[in-house]
Amino acid sequence: MKTEWHPNSWSDFPVKHGPDYLNQEQVNKVTKTLSGFPPLVFAGEARTLTEKLALASEGKSFVLQGGDCAESFADFNADNIRDTFRALLQMAIVLTSGTKLPVIKIGRMAGQFAKPRTSTTETQNGVELPSYKGDIINKIEFDEIKRIADPSRMLKAYSQSASTLNLLRAFAEGGYADLKQVHTWNMGFSEDSQSERYAILANKIQEYLQFIDALGINSSNSPQLRKVDFFTSHEALLLPYEEAMTRTDSISGNIYNTSAHFVWIGDKTRDLGGAHVEFCRGINNPIGIKCGPTLTTDALIKLLDILNPDNIAGRITLITRFGSDKISTHLPELINAVQKEGRSVVWSCDPMHGNTIRTSGGLKTRPFDNILSEVKQNLQIHKSEGTFAGGIHLEMTGQNVTECTGGSSNIEEHNLTDRYHTHCDPRLNANQSVELAFLIADELKQRDD
Ligand code: PEP
Ligand code: CO
Repeated sequence: MKTEWHPNSWSDFPVKHGPDYLNQEQVNKVTKTLSGFPPLVFAGEARTLTEKLALASEGKSFVLQGGDCAESFADFNADNIRDTFRALLQMAIVLTSGTKLPVIKIGRMAGQFAKPRTSTTETQNGVELPSYKGDIINKIEFDEIKRIADPSRMLKAYSQSASTLNLLRAFAEGGYADLKQVHTWNMGFSEDSQSERYAILANKIQEYLQFIDALGINSSNSPQLRKVDFFTSHEALLLPYEEAMTRTDSISGNIYNTSAHFVWIGDKTRDLGGAHVEFCRGINNPIGIKCGPTLTTDALIKLLDILNPDNIAGRITLITRFGSDKISTHLPELINAVQKEGRSVVWSCDPMHGNTIRTSGGLKTRPFDNILSEVKQNLQIHKSEGTFAGGIHLEMTGQNVTECTGGSSNIEEHNLTDRYHTHCDPRLNANQSVELAFLIADELKQRDD
């Protein structure tokens, strides 16, 4: 039987992938400070997102969720934030044209700092140290002192999240996202086929805008042409931080995690009896569950029982991440179980985390073709099961990095070291992201034909 929930009830459950802080008193001091800080997002915004996601669960909207695997303190600057935001805007335009549906834009931004790691330690030249767990926990440099989990880093993560969110809100609402700017978002690094294709689409949109302007509809009188809704998200991994950001909404009296609009439970921490599931069941934000190959149908239904007992539409997004070689075995089973039980979910596809490989030189990469293959199979499986492929979840950046191989610019293994900047997993660069958006849009057009 379930015990009563409170923001700290997770601490009675096993915590996987949590840092071992050396000084609990210091942790308490930091979380007390954090709990007095202003919320980063408002409960009403999280409710709006749940309502929008409810539409995605019915095939009336499409979710685009993307950003860094791990945000970092070192790469924090306005250009990086703008470039990722811009790449997401471009992708959203492309996807809107393909799906003819509103696209819900969610950044893995303004709080995506904590990482679960496959191994708790890392060994280099015979020296073993704790793994890097994300900038909110410890430093990436391979050094005994720098790898110690430092609770004060939560304060810096809060501050960076607040500044990032402030800029994102300005971009989303202050004119940058005005549809009139559709051409200026074209930021191909070279004159490649993606930017050409995008320019053609942007021309078309501009023509429509001139046409409706002649009818008296323009960005001065129609806010939906002038601004976009943009939401933030991250993995709710570091529970002392998430708890400190959890507040009671004065309007509804309900409890929300105000660190982001949407949080998800990772594939490594979605245990039924675990602390992360316990924490997430009590907050009213929309919740994601990463679903990898080890998730059984039985466990999934039990997770839905715990996290969404009232079967509220938009509350749960299942982010499936099997790998291009496993999706055809696992996804149909999960779909059948969810359908049979009559559960309402948004089905989103993360084609990144099941397709990570290591090069002979030891770098993690993801071949673009395998990413695309998982996306295509995902669309095809949902089509044949009669369910909606409601979204896509990507690790990507607006920067011209060389982390994933392939794509039309044909990044090869020997190019990876040119600009390999990620703090954790390899990301699609802006060209690869827009290319993927076009390929998804093409597939969706065919699906609907
Ligand atoms: C992630 O999204 O960065 C992640 C760690 O994914 P997963 O939990 O699916 O492995
Ligand atoms: Co990742």
